Amino acid sequence: MEEIEWKNDYLLGNKLIDKQHQIFAGLINKLIVAQNNNRDTHYLTRLIMEIQKYAEFHFISEENYMIDIEYPALAEHQQQHIMLIEQFSIAINSIELGKKSLDDFAHFLLNWFKQHTINKDRLIVEFLQG
Ligand SMILES: [Fe+2]
Repeated sequence: MEEIEWKNDYLLGNKLIDKQHQIFAGLINKLIVAQNNNRDTHYLTRLIMEIQKYAEFHFISEENYMIDIEYPALAEHQQQHIMLIEQFSIAINSIELGKKSLDDFAHFLLNWFKQHTINKDRLIVEFLQG
């Protein structure tokens, strides 16, 4: 599976959020590399937990920023974050039980990151620009 290639499309123009998105993408890539190297399920599950923790932290930062700038679609955006965090817990349990493939989850995560950053997070910046 291919790693996320960082593109300027992912940059929103807020230094903190951009930095956090780069770290977020880096962690997803770490999972993809580990999977490509056929690391064991225990280690891969731990990497997913690491991404989950970071995502939780990052989402709070991003939401605080939205509160700060009085972003009108905060609740809707927050809902997307909550849904992703739920997916992590479901995936970790299913992978440990052998019911879900790691490949599927890594694909889902990669697509979520690309879609969410380009489509949803971009709206925050567009709101600021009027
Ligand atoms: Fe977001």
